[in-house]
Amino acid sequence: MPPRAVPSYGACRLCLVEVVDRRGRSKITTSCNFPVQEGIDVRLDTPAVLKHRKIMIELLLAMVPNSPELRELAAENGIEDTRLDKDEKGECILCGLCERVCTSIVEANALA
Ligand code: FES
Repeated sequence: MPPRAVPSYGACRLCLVEVVDRRGRSKITTSCNFPVQEGIDVRLDTPAVLKHRKIMIELLLAMVPNSPELRELAAENGIEDTRLDKDEKGECILCGLCERVCTSIVEANALA
């Protein structure tokens, strides 16, 4: 596996999946930072996963309502608009990726 530029952070929560462990217990979790384990069953599109993912898309859409990428993702998931108050000037979903790259890769703190 190639090294990652920055560690997974789990901030956007768009990669939600349902993981069922060996004992049959299930939970909704982010897949980008969930450790792979022998015997787990990862489900991508259960009703619970789809429901939680839609909620996350709506939350992000409220933060950045004019993002073409988010609007496209929303449409793909059957979401026409968010029911939440929108930040019409929002331009960032606060995933922290730019800041982590700045500090970890560039080794600067320019964004702080
Ligand atoms: S939380 Fe996993 S990709 Fe964003």
